[in-house]
Amino acid sequence: MEIIISDKKETNTKDADSKYLARHNSPLDIEIGRSKGSHIYDVNEKEYIDFLMGWCVGNVGWGVEEIRFAIQNSTAPTYVYPEMLYRPWTELGELLASITPSNLEKCYRATGGTEAVEAAMQIAMAYTGRGKFISIEGCYHGNSIATLSIGSSENREQFGNLLPHCYKLNPPLDIKAAERIEKKLKNKDIAAFIMEPVICNLGILIPDGDFMQLIQSLCKKYGTLFVIDEVATGFGRTGKMFASEYFDLKPDILCMGKGISGGYADLAATITTAKIAKSVKSKVNLYSTYGWHPLSVEASLAYLRYLVDRKESLLENVNSMGEFFRMRLNQMDFKYETEVRGLGLAIAVDTGNEKYAEKIRKKCLEERLLVQSDGPNILMFPALNIDEDTAEEGLSVFENCL
Ligand SMILES: Cc1ncc(COP(=O)(O)O)c(C=O)c1O
Repeated sequence: MEIIISDKKETNTKDADSKYLARHNSPLDIEIGRSKGSHIYDVNEKEYIDFLMGWCVGNVGWGVEEIRFAIQNSTAPTYVYPEMLYRPWTELGELLASITPSNLEKCYRATGGTEAVEAAMQIAMAYTGRGKFISIEGCYHGNSIATLSIGSSENREQFGNLLPHCYKLNPPLDIKAAERIEKKLKNKDIAAFIMEPVICNLGILIPDGDFMQLIQSLCKKYGTLFVIDEVATGFGRTGKMFASEYFDLKPDILCMGKGISGGYADLAATITTAKIAKSVKSKVNLYSTYGWHPLSVEASLAYLRYLVDRKESLLENVNSMGEFFRMRLNQMDFKYETEVRGLGLAIAVDTGNEKYAEKIRKKCLEERLLVQSDGPNILMFPALNIDEDTAEEGLSVFENCL
């Protein structure tokens, strides 16, 4: 018997995409062919410099041979069932416990950042017996109803009903903001305070150290869990393995995604303390059928071992190249008053004008450089191992596009 899969073949990928894929935005007009280091190539071998790395995903560059080799030669079972024992799960859990801050040691498996943050919210609710949250206004923590509820208030305008009782703290994130929020924490009905330690989604907003310390101690005082979302900032992006280290944070829960597998697999994790995991054991059932699929774990382990083995030199590069980016960007002539912000290789150019930022992004794309615009900000997340020649080449393109 002949099986006809589809006789409705579109002649080119762009048409087929617009016919079969439901999307919010139109895709970029680049049909990806291959990627290598800090470059991507379309199917016709047109080369682009990638200053985005999939938004903090490809941290050690695309297509690292050793990692590809490990994945291609994988003997992991093509098998999925959360109820089994699986040795590499324990290896990944142990590795994550060894590199995350403080006494975080128990991992929940997840497939992506949204699921990891959702898990953190459930754990916090179960542990505290409370149902309210505090987060930072305008932030992004994922795309489920719960994570949209703790995200920007604009989501509420779009969807109407989201989770109630999600309070938003407006920047600037200084001592005064922490004191303002104490009034809410005092009621002892907030399950968790959730934030990125460096807020990529607000144009690389770096909170004051005093704010972070005070929030952490207020959470402790009033029994609110302190949840840090390192989905974007984790695994070296800001010049430390985790951005929490800049503030000496000891979060109760830490969420990881994106750079956890360097773009080689879909995988994420939520890590918490043994005490919290024990307390919520009978209440929180995060089944996640595909969470930590053996093939994804194999890929993530190969990548993380590569990253950890080179930790010192990679972080050194992040810090020196971060300085280089900021120095070069500060030398450039922009149309409006501009502020360059950044920590390590999480970089924002606040151009002060949304239309101008978008115009620059489009021009860069024409000139084969990938950057992102977000409101008035242009964001850059280059590979952690980018070399100075590639950085300069991309920055010169950028300068010519202003
Ligand atoms: C800080 C942060 N948290 C969570 C998420 C959600 O991750 P994912 O898209 O993997 O669900 C994102 C995605 O951009 C993010 O930047």
